[in-house]
Amino acid sequence: MDFRLKAFLTTLIVSLVMFAWLIYVSLTNEQMKPIPVAAQQGKLVFQRKACIECHTVLGNGGYYGGDLTKVYEKLGSDALKEFLTHPPLISGAKQKRHERLNEAETNAMIAYLEFLDSINTTNWPPHPLYEAKPQAR
Ligand code: HEC
Repeated sequence: MDFRLKAFLTTLIVSLVMFAWLIYVSLTNEQMKPIPVAAQQGKLVFQRKACIECHTVLGNGGYYGGDLTKVYEKLGSDALKEFLTHPPLISGAKQKRHERLNEAETNAMIAYLEFLDSINTTNWPPHPLYEAKPQAR
């Protein structure tokens, strides 16, 4: 076989293999990971307790309590557990507290918040916004 034909065929095969590999990698990246069952249960608790009325997740929801997408990274599992099982007074409210979650609801909620935190949001929410404390009304 002529050298130029061999070189052409080799380049063609190498390109095809690399193309197939790129497609494989792009289809099997981390975003294809299944959502953990506990996180799914946490999302149901989140819906049942209507946390979305005051909080945004991935930018959607109410603007009173701040975005919870990356709150797991901010507070960590232990502080979240304490917060959800012994909710403090909501600042700006004289009596209103977060609803107290039971043990199972708390664990599911933390799994959900941990899952949200694992989503690559390309730095959403922006940090100055995230660190701002809601104003007392
Ligand atoms: C009535 C409005 C309201 C509802 C409903 C609500 N929150 Fe909040 N939440 C707030 C406000 C306001 C804050 C900010 C802290 C404060 O002012 O006390 C807050 C703070 C938080 C924080 C701490 C955030 C941080 O950045 O430190 C977490 C975690 C949280 N809420 C989780 C939840 C979950 C989970 C639910 C549903 C079970 C929920 N909240 C329902 C109003 C609410």
